[in-house]
Amino acid sequence: VPTLVEAVAIDGPASSGKSTLAREVAKRLGYAFVDTGSLYRAVALALDRAGAGESPEDDPRLVVALAACSVALDPTPSGVRVFLSGEEVTPLLREERLGRIASRVSAFPAVRQALFGLQRSLAAAGRIVMDGRDIGTVILPEARLKIFLVADPEVRAKRRLLDLERSGQKASLETVLSDILQRDERDRSRKIAPLVPAPDALVLDTSHMTISEAVDWIVDRYR
Ligand code: DC
Repeated sequence: VPTLVEAVAIDGPASSGKSTLAREVAKRLGYAFVDTGSLYRAVALALDRAGAGESPEDDPRLVVALAACSVALDPTPSGVRVFLSGEEVTPLLREERLGRIASRVSAFPAVRQALFGLQRSLAAAGRIVMDGRDIGTVILPEARLKIFLVADPEVRAKRRLLDLERSGQKASLETVLSDILQRDERDRSRKIAPLVPAPDALVLDTSHMTISEAVDWIVDRYR
């Protein structure tokens, strides 16, 4: 039996509230918080800058761009700062376009492999709340608490739309919803580290919960 690590793993589909909840739970526990989606987004940014476009699947530039970029992290209490070859790119990563590219490139074994060690070394040290798609299944199966978040697609689309509006980006509910459904499908059906709950994860449906109710629920289970 592996030794448990004092950590909370939070996985779930796009816009299920992972990062918002993980940040708050980390605050309550006095733990570090790492949103692993930002790593995949940083790789997406590198590829985008290399001109790989929105569908980099078969682009040989992928390998070149990956080899040329190095992703580094600095976890702070409010979130993780992400550096791409030394340049801080944190404020650039939330764009919808990068989320879409990230979902595509995250299916590449080379990308997941390149990011594994980085995530694993942060996670294994413990006292951390980490969110993503494969934290409970691949990155830190020894986390003392594993949460798998779910929420109705319409609820998630409305939340995402609010986020976008707050950050000054324009979109319609229909576009956001169809993007979410596409991303769910892609993240669930990929061959390596697909989005699935760990066998011992607790499933939390946040469709009808407020942020503070969900945070309380997670912190209570952890304690
Ligand atoms: O959580 P997010 O929207 O920032 O993540 C962007 C994409 O990155 C997501 O669609 C799939 C991928 N991802 C992943 O494959 N594994 C993770 N642990 C985190 C994100």
